[in-house]
Amino acid sequence: MGSKALQFFSFTLLLFFMFQAVFADLKHKNTSPFQFLRHLHGCHKGENIKDLHKLKKYLQNFGYLTYKNKTHFDDDDFDETLESAVRTYQLNYNLKASGSLDANTVSRMMRPRCAVADIVNGTSRMRSARKRHRHSGSELFHTVSHYSFFDGEPRWPASKYSLTFAFLPGTRDDAINPVSRAFQTWAENTHFSFSRTEDYVNADIRVSFESGEHGDGSSFDGPGGTLAHAFAPINGTFHYDAEEPWSVMPDPGAYHLETLALHEIGHLLGLGHSSIQGAIMYPTFSLGESKGLHGDDIQGINALYNL
Ligand SMILES: *[C@@H]1O[C@H](CO)[C@@H](O)[C@H](O)[C@H]1NC(C)=O
Ligand SMILES: *[C@@H]1O[C@H](CO)[C@@H](O)[C@H](O)[C@H]1NC(C)=O
Ligand SMILES: *[C@@H]1O[C@H](CO)[C@@H](O)[C@H](O)[C@H]1NC(C)=O
Ligand SMILES: [Zn+2]
Ligand SMILES: [Zn+2]
Repeated sequence: MGSKALQFFSFTLLLFFMFQAVFADLKHKNTSPFQFLRHLHGCHKGENIKDLHKLKKYLQNFGYLTYKNKTHFDDDDFDETLESAVRTYQLNYNLKASGSLDANTVSRMMRPRCAVADIVNGTSRMRSARKRHRHSGSELFHTVSHYSFFDGEPRWPASKYSLTFAFLPGTRDDAINPVSRAFQTWAENTHFSFSRTEDYVNADIRVSFESGEHGDGSSFDGPGGTLAHAFAPINGTFHYDAEEPWSVMPDPGAYHLETLALHEIGHLLGLGHSSIQGAIMYPTFSLGESKGLHGDDIQGINALYNL
C-alpha cells in the first residue's frame, strides 16, 4: 500500500470523526425534553394530534391544566379545557391569547425553565392585573404584570429572618461561591440575613445537585427542559438539575449558577413566578444568560412581608 493510499485513508477517517462530532452536537441540541412541542406547532381546538397528551402533561406540570376526568390527560384531543389552559399560559407570558399553539407560544414553551409551576393549586397565577390610571382627566386601564406568591402566601415567621444554609456534603466546589453570592444579594435587598453552616441536616436551607427522580415528587428531566427547583417556605429545599451544564461565569454553553440561585432563593423566601421578563422570578433561562434582582422582585418580597 502506497503512502498516497494511507494519506487518503487517514483523511477519510478524520472526516468521519469530524462529522460524528457535529452530529453528536446536533443530536444533543435536539434532545431537549421540550422538543416534542415543535411538532405540535399550529394545532388548535377540535384537532386530534399524535403526542398532544405530552402538551397536556407539560401544562399540568406547570399548573395550567386540570381535568376532573383524569382519562383526558392520556388522550390526544385538543378540547376546550386545553384551549383555556393554553390561553392562560399566553396571558401569563404576555403573548397573544389565541388559545392555539402558534409559533410564539411554541418557542416560548420550549425554553429551558425552572421546574416550579407558574400556577400553584389553580388559585394564584403570575399576575396580570388591570390597574386604573388617571390620565389627562380621563380614566385609562392598563395591564400591569408582576410578581406572585404561592397559594396561601406561605412565608417565614418573624423569628426566622436570619436563616442558615448548607450544601449537601460532596457538592461540587465551584457552586459554593456563586450560591453564597446570591444569598448575599438577597440579604442586601431584603430584611433577611443568611449565614453558611456545615450542619446540612439542621440548616434552614439545603442546597444540592440531583438528577432524575430524587424523592421529592418533582423529578428532573436530563439536559435541557427543567433546570432547578425550590420549595415554598418554610421547606428550605433547593435543587439544581445535575445533568445540566453549569458555569460560574456566564458562558454560552452553560447555565449560570448564580442566576439560577437568585431565582430559586426567591422561591425559598415565598415568591412565585413573575410575568416581567426582566425580573429574576421570570420562569425561563437561556444558556449563557445572567441576571440580577429587579425592582419587581424586591416589591414582591416587601408586599409578602408587609414591609
Ligand atoms: C372519562 O372520559 C372517558 C372518555 O370520554 C369516558 O369513557 C369515561 O367514562 C369518563 N369517566 C368518568 C368517571 O366520567
Ligand atoms: C389547594 O386548595 C384547596 C382549596 O383551597 C386546599 O384545601 C388545599 O389544601 C390546597 N392544596 C395545596 C397543596 O396547597
Ligand atoms: C420539602 O418538600 C418536599 C416536596 O413536598 C418534600 O419531599 C420534603 O420532604 C420537604 N422537606 C422539608 C424539610 O419539609
Ligand atoms: Zn421558579
Ligand atoms: Zn428536588
